[in-house]
Amino acid sequence: MRTIVHLSDLHFGRVDEAVVEPLARKIEELAPEVVVVSGDLTQRARSEQFKEAREFLDLLPSPQIVVPGNHDVPLYNLFARFLQPLDKYRRYISEELEPFYSDEEIAVLGVNTARSLTIKDGRVNEEQVERIRQRLCPYADHVTKIVVTHHPFDLPEGHERDADLVGRAELAMQALASCGADLLLSGHLHLSRTGHTAKRYKIAGHSALVVQAGTATSTRGRGEANSFNVVRIRHPHVNVERFAWSPETKHWTTASSETFQHTPDGWVRLPDEVAAGIVFDDKSAGLQSNNPLGLSQTTGD
Ligand SMILES: [Fe+2]
Ligand SMILES: [Fe+2]
Repeated sequence: MRTIVHLSDLHFGRVDEAVVEPLARKIEELAPEVVVVSGDLTQRARSEQFKEAREFLDLLPSPQIVVPGNHDVPLYNLFARFLQPLDKYRRYISEELEPFYSDEEIAVLGVNTARSLTIKDGRVNEEQVERIRQRLCPYADHVTKIVVTHHPFDLPEGHERDADLVGRAELAMQALASCGADLLLSGHLHLSRTGHTAKRYKIAGHSALVVQAGTATSTRGRGEANSFNVVRIRHPHVNVERFAWSPETKHWTTASSETFQHTPDGWVRLPDEVAAGIVFDDKSAGLQSNNPLGLSQTTGD
């Protein structure tokens, strides 16, 4: 069993200070094997904001798979934007823009989709797609292959707004499908969603599992409470538990829990009564699935 804590869109510079320390404590308590942060660590890519993000990351367990988001590229300083777009990110967060972790059960690859030529939209290029293939294809089927991006490669059914997708998503998804990399963790939308892919379902004849994290610490929650995901993996099952912040109780508590099974045709969401019988570990034995979250159209951030 592997536990991954999936955070996104921290946006230091515009965080709700009340959530930050309890979040770090909650993550420590969850004792994940890997912490994933899917981009937008800062609000405006300023040094002070990167320093705060770095201090926060230092409170969390390692290894960490962190990728930049569009807010981590300077917006107003044009010199920096085009000539040194991720200079500060490299200085304060990591030199490695496409980090990788693997063990006997999981392989987790971060892919940088933040680009200076567009404000919000992300891109992957052909070399990146080839690197994804080289990194993930060699792993056996029982190893769950996970790709982390800021901009989503695909969206859950019911949220099919193409502008939110990473550019060249089809090319990337074909490559991912050919390697069996079909657990996709991303952010950018500031909405927490888990579900089957829409677009790839049509391309490859089977679905990937898209796990979107909301914003963990930013005040720009688009109507949703601050949240993060805990992804528990025990092949062929994956449980996604969403934690949400309650400003009233000042605690992070479980908001939903869904369990999926990997099949040759893709992922199948298990009915609650079946999911309840799957043991991921002692702590999560008997996890109950809730109803899928409502889906809505929105733009990313
Ligand atoms: Fe973003
Ligand atoms: Fe964001």
